[in-house]
Amino acid sequence: MKQVLITGGCGFIGSNFVRHTLEHYKEYRLINLDKLTYAGNPGNLTDIENSPRYRFVKGDICDADLVRKIFAEEKIDAVVHFAAESHVDRSITGPAEFIRTNILGTFTLLEAAREAWLKNGDSTGKEYRFLHVSTDEVYGSLGETGAFQETTPYDPRSPYSASKASSDHLVSAYFHTYGLPTLITNCSNNYGPYQFPEKLIPLVINNALQGKALPVYGDGKNVRDWLYVIDHCEAILTVLHKGKTGETYNIGGNSEKQNIEIVSTICDILDEKVGLLPGEKARRSLVTYVKDRAGHDRRYAIDATKIRTELGWTPQVNFAEGMRKTVEWYLDHQAWIASVTTGAYREYYEKMYGGR
Ligand code: NAD
Ligand code: TYD
Repeated sequence: MKQVLITGGCGFIGSNFVRHTLEHYKEYRLINLDKLTYAGNPGNLTDIENSPRYRFVKGDICDADLVRKIFAEEKIDAVVHFAAESHVDRSITGPAEFIRTNILGTFTLLEAAREAWLKNGDSTGKEYRFLHVSTDEVYGSLGETGAFQETTPYDPRSPYSASKASSDHLVSAYFHTYGLPTLITNCSNNYGPYQFPEKLIPLVINNALQGKALPVYGDGKNVRDWLYVIDHCEAILTVLHKGKTGETYNIGGNSEKQNIEIVSTICDILDEKVGLLPGEKARRSLVTYVKDRAGHDRRYAIDATKIRTELGWTPQVNFAEGMRKTVEWYLDHQAWIASVTTGAYREYYEKMYGGR
């Protein structure tokens, strides 16, 4: 049995990864270290919390003593590091927490791994892995054409992407300087179950269901390359199993969409599934163009040739199917949405979008 430290396993991608891995990869025991910030919800994992192959530890990745203790107690073989502050808009209004968690937190984990695996440990015959989950946003913004490759120079433009870029550089430095067996994945925008409704897709689903305004930033023509979250989880597992240490792998859905297309698709699926709004109004009528995000990256697109040709990963869920599954999941989990959009979320929403 391999012992894998998951950080941020109560968030969106982390909780999907924990559930998917426990179900499909019986050789792993997962230790989930999560601080339970506003974005972390233990309720995302109630169905598996009693699994003998799962342990939850509430704590901060910046807490060096705690992280060191987990490495010693659990004899960690691999780390899959998700924990981060992840929302660009929040990084604009409050960057400090992004610097702390994303940079200092990653540094703390790297130091604990170095101590356990290289300084104190007997690495003979062991295949340790430190997989750092990162984003395509580190590459900056594209024009009308082209796609990010692993060799694209870093050009982060928001406090979020700058903090992730910084953490990527630290991970890479630990490989080159100390020989820590690291892997980095840079993935495009994810969507699917359990995404916190501050991000575009769940926010729009939630508002459209309630007949509230759908805030579209700027002209709505910014482009993101969307990937269904379980495809991302499988890509991470593929890199964990077959990736070459010291390497970076880009992960993307080959599914570029303008934001306005995303919002319109959600409206149409909901109109079909739950009927039009009162007065026979289509949900597209709720679209409200609002002030653009500061420094809003225009377009992201991923060239995933390397992971496809070298490791054999390709996405399995196409965009139309993934969006339908996602909208259905939110329709079936309205109690979940209600539970995560209470007090602090309402305050955040008021501040961001006013009375809309
Ligand atoms: P999320 O915001 O939904 O979840 C983050 C999790 O980390 C939460 O459970 C939170 O409680 C935990 N956390 C935050 N600070 C912590 C700390 N100091 N110590 C311990 N736990 C802490 O994020 P997500 O969307 O699931 O993203 C996960 C990772 O994937 C992030 O590193 C993000 O940069 C990366 N990523 C996300 C996307 C995307 O589209 N969501 C795309 C590419 C890469
Ligand atoms: P988001 O889900 O925050 O992801 P990211 O900024 O990491 O790409 O936003 C996706 C896109 O949707 C981005 O171009 C900003 C835009 N957006 C809106 O137009 N309205 C919204 O209310 C939100 C949250 C995002």
